[in-house]
Order: sequence, then structure tokens, then C-alpha cells
Amino acid sequence: MRQIYPDEAALTDAGLADRYRYPGQGAVGSHWLRANMVMSLDGAATVRGRSGGLSGEADRQVFALLRALADVIVVGAGTARVEGYGPVRPGKEGVRWAWLREGRPASAPIAVLTRGLDLDLASPLLAQAPGDARTIVITTEAAPAGRRAAAARTAEVIVAGERDVDLTAAVDALAGRGYQRMLTEGGPHLLNQIIGAGLLDELCLTLSPLLTGPGPGRIVQGPVPLPAPGEPGGHPFTLAHVLAEEGHLLCRYLRPGG
Ligand SMILES: NC(=O)c1ccc[n+]([C@@H]2O[C@H](COP(=O)([O-])OP(=O)(O)OC[C@H]3O[C@@H](n4cnc5c(N)ncnc54)[C@H](OP(=O)(O)O)[C@@H]3O)[C@@H](O)[C@H]2O)c1
Repeated sequence: MRQIYPDEAALTDAGLADRYRYPGQGAVGSHWLRANMVMSLDGAATVRGRSGGLSGEADRQVFALLRALADVIVVGAGTARVEGYGPVRPGKEGVRWAWLREGRPASAPIAVLTRGLDLDLASPLLAQAPGDARTIVITTEAAPAGRRAAAARTAEVIVAGERDVDLTAAVDALAGRGYQRMLTEGGPHLLNQIIGAGLLDELCLTLSPLLTGPGPGRIVQGPVPLPAPGEPGGHPFTLAHVLAEEGHLLCRYLRPGG
């Protein structure tokens, strides 16, 4: 993989990992929340309902690298259901980045946000996560008590809100448990709320060299209005780097002042 901005450079594994290093960890409870998303040239977040058709070899490599760097991987239940999420399995790419996990569990836990707890509690995501990286279910007081109790048999359950999970409370609860380096893999409805709550520190965005046509939604979707450019909070993100491989551009953007 080559970096094409700010300088031209071929990247070793160490160089690549360095490009995505989280900023130094601050005080207990502080956090850094990075999103990793992919979109087509015409702004689509999916092909035939899933993101995999937009991905490529470079994107898959960075996807695995970002998972290895993270303390926790946060997803909306919609993405977990559609993309068939399971616990992180250190496959070929996981082995490549295993050195980044020194002093931590071999893989980061998945934290899944859900109001209704409409999750298959016997699925590998809930039932087969490793003991040192149990899946975390972040839900609400309004979620059915029986489902919550059933989920708690295999997963860690965090209640962070009455009817909706309060994103700030959820992120604080994760950071308070020591998960300071956070990665979210979406989906668009979750990302909308994260940005709306002012919690997004960084966006890693892969631009896929495909045109998908009208239909699919964008990487941010939902009811939370975001500040328009020029309004308070509507400042542009800063471009940290661009990597390129086989027509895919992997861009890393930092929040204003980040
Ligand atoms: N292009 C990309 O990079 C990318 C990345 C990820 C996903 N995707 C695509 O995006 C689609 C899925 O995304 P999505 O936007 O529909 O769903 P999503 O954001 O992944 O998940 C939405 C669900 O998360 C739960 N949730 C969200 N906010 C919540 C809150 N405040 N409190 C409690 N629960 C909350 C709810 O689950 P319950 O319904 O269980 O209550 C809600 O239905 C799929 O097609 C996937 O392939 C694309």
C-alpha cells in the first residue's frame, strides 16, 4: 500500500500501523472514537444491502488493522444483524497484527447497541466470544427485562438510557471500563447519533472506485440534524493522510482541533 498524502511513501506494516496509531491515552475515562466506513464514488454505503461489495484488499487490511488497534468495536444492531457479526476472530490478518495486541486480550470485544434486544442470543456473537473479550450489549431501561437477563448470561450488559441509548453515557461507560481506544464500524444510523452527540474524533473513510447508482443510503443516515458547514460545530475535518491501492483511496480525517 502507498501513502500519497502528505508524502509519497511505500508503507511497511509498522509504518501502516503508525499511520493509524491512536493519540496517547489520556486520564482514566478519557476516550478517542474513530469510525471506519466505506463508500462508493457516488456516495453509497452499500451494494445489494451490504458494505462488502465496496471493499477491496487494501480496505480489508486496514479494517483488520483498525480492529487490532482498538480496545472495543462499537456497532449498531442493524449492522450486526445484516453483516452477520460474530466475535473478532484473529484470522490471517489478525495474526499479521497480533503484535499490536500485546498486553491486551487477543481481540477486542464487540459492543452492540440495541433498543429492542432483537438479537439471536445463541449466535456466536453473543454465545461464543472469548472470555476475555465478551460481547457487550448496550441497551436501555425499556428493553424487555427477560431479554436483558438472558443476554447477561453470556454477554456483558450495559444499560445507558431510558428509551434510547444515550451515546455520551454509553461512551463514558465503555471508557470507564478501560476501553479508551474506540472504533465504530457503523452503521449509518449509529454514526448519525455519534456525530450529533459531538463524539466523533476521527473518520477513516475508504472511497471505493465504484458507481452504484441511485438507491442505497449514505454513510450517515437518520434523524439527527448535523450543523451545516459554516455553522458552529460545522467546521471541516482535517485530512491526516491518504493511502492508495488498486483505485481505492483510504482517507483518515481528524475532527477540527483533533
Ligand atoms: N458502508 C459502510 O461502511 C457500512 C458500515 C456499516 C454498515 N453498513 C450498512 O448499513 C446498514 C446497517 O446500518 P443501519 O444504519 O441500518 O443500522 P445501524 O446503525 O447499524 O443499527 C441501527 C440499530 O442499532 C440500534 N440503535 C441505534 N441507535 C440506538 C440507540 N440510540 N439506542 C439503542 N439502540 C440503538 C437499534 O437496534 P435495535 O433495532 O436492535 O433496537 C437500531 O435499529 C447495512 O446495510 C450495512 O451493510 C455500511
